[in-house]
Amino acid sequence: MARHLITSAIPYINGVKHLGNLVGSQLPADLYARYLRARGHEVLFLCATDEHGTPAELAAAKAGKPVAEYCAEMWQVQSDLAEGFRLSFDHFGRSSSPQNHTLTQHFAARLDAAGLIREVSETQMYSHADGRFLPDRYIEGTCPNCGFDSARGDQCDNCTKQLDPVDLINPRSTISGSTDLEMRETKHLYLRQSVMKERLEEWIDTRQGWPVLTTSIAKKWLNDGDGLQDRGITRDLDWGVPVMKGDQPWPGMEGKVFYVWFDAPIEYIACAQEWVDAGKGQDWERWWRTDKGADDVRYTQFMGKDNVPFHTLSFPVTILGSAEPWKLVDYIKSFNYLNYDGGQFSTSRGRGVFMDQALEILPADYWRWWLLSHVPETSDSEFTWENFQTSVNKDLADVLGNFASRVTKFCRSKFGTSVPEAGAQGPDEARLIADLTAKVREYETHMEAIEIRKAATALRAAWVLGNEYLQEVAPWSTIKTDEAKAQMQIRLALNLVRLYAVISAPFIPDASSDLLKAMRAEDAAWPEDVAQALTALPAGHAFDVPEVTFRKITDAEREDWQGRFAGQRG
Ligand code: 2FM
Ligand code: ZN
Repeated sequence: MARHLITSAIPYINGVKHLGNLVGSQLPADLYARYLRARGHEVLFLCATDEHGTPAELAAAKAGKPVAEYCAEMWQVQSDLAEGFRLSFDHFGRSSSPQNHTLTQHFAARLDAAGLIREVSETQMYSHADGRFLPDRYIEGTCPNCGFDSARGDQCDNCTKQLDPVDLINPRSTISGSTDLEMRETKHLYLRQSVMKERLEEWIDTRQGWPVLTTSIAKKWLNDGDGLQDRGITRDLDWGVPVMKGDQPWPGMEGKVFYVWFDAPIEYIACAQEWVDAGKGQDWERWWRTDKGADDVRYTQFMGKDNVPFHTLSFPVTILGSAEPWKLVDYIKSFNYLNYDGGQFSTSRGRGVFMDQALEILPADYWRWWLLSHVPETSDSEFTWENFQTSVNKDLADVLGNFASRVTKFCRSKFGTSVPEAGAQGPDEARLIADLTAKVREYETHMEAIEIRKAATALRAAWVLGNEYLQEVAPWSTIKTDEAKAQMQIRLALNLVRLYAVISAPFIPDASSDLLKAMRAEDAAWPEDVAQALTALPAGHAFDVPEVTFRKITDAEREDWQGRFAGQRG
């Protein structure tokens, strides 16, 4: 038994996430956490909302709410959806928590003491009417390149030219509309990442077996162009962690907050403190401090590829630069993008299926199975309704669901609703047990390596073995000539239903628990020994015929959904 710390990239607070977001971090992290728990390991699985930065402020303004109130509401929405998808976080925290404020300020103080922070003077747009500096997204004006009159401070959406706020003609504040703006000098803190380049390189080089996607992105940023750049870690915003040196004011930094990407990963640690403070755990330091036992912990992070630079470079600079014994990540599992029906998922255009909509039309397991078995592991992948319908109808309804229902119904009609007892196993059963043992071991190997698609394929193949066995031995024919033998075949098949429920739980937890309940199985232990696991339901053990575990998606439904989710969320 080992100890595993697992974190999923923390989703931005500004709205409900789409299925592309879900499959790129939270869902695979949940799969891994569930698997490791099922194997008897001690797991701490953490996630939170990423609540700071301009997007949170803008979304709150759009919703007409104070930002703190908006974030509190959206946290609840995201937390409920996480539960709906059965994401088994030990704690779902908030990056705006007091714990994260304190810890972020603590790290800043440590980095400053280590000489890793420098002050930089910049000029930036100041709005007199708003009484504040305006980040790029808060300034609009006419594009000097194409004349478009709503170009943003950082880019023109019409001609795509990258802009500086000073380039804009007739700039105005998007908060107040005021044109009373001036360029003013302001100071910011920069994290001196560049001086840590060699240490980082050394650290990354010793990370054996990391996915190519992870290390190639890290190396690209380490070595491209001028190499690792120093990075501004403060912003002129109201909402965020106030810039302080521990609990001391930071002269010249009054009214500023830390950049969202500085405090967000620190929330991984603060979240463990929140978990303890919420009364759910005992000791967070044994997960995070190598001087307090975290040396024994294996720490795995899950994220989309766009997050990789922050987790392989910036956050490790924070950790290493603090010169304190914090746990560094052991393995980073990163993902490509999931596209939607011939294009991209788009939050701004409401294109694709969002988490709330998905659960309105089908239970979580249907989505979990499709998303995990098509996770964009080695390249981008695409959601299409045809593929979704086929997968659900074949894998879940025809292969797994139908097996459970056929076996239990046949038994009920011929022998009643308890496990039949006559008959001894023969060569067909020996072969099935050997094949199934090999498949389960293969499944375990893929799960341990977090090769999710391969794991899904092995699991499905294990379900298929049961179907093939049933088809071959055909108890409905056997019973005509040898009733005892038919009883033995069905006894084994009923035990297969229980075994499938156990091994499928990380992918489809609800169906798994429904099947275990129907089989009245008290023992849901992992099948270390497959032959033995197939005797867990003894002769005479009573069971129920499960309610339909998976229903099929009709063509009419598929067409309806395809139209409904083509764009513009209601
Ligand atoms: O890309 C995102 O959704 C970010 N909110 C992820 C942050 S992960 C972290 F570092 F906390
Ligand atoms: Zn333009």
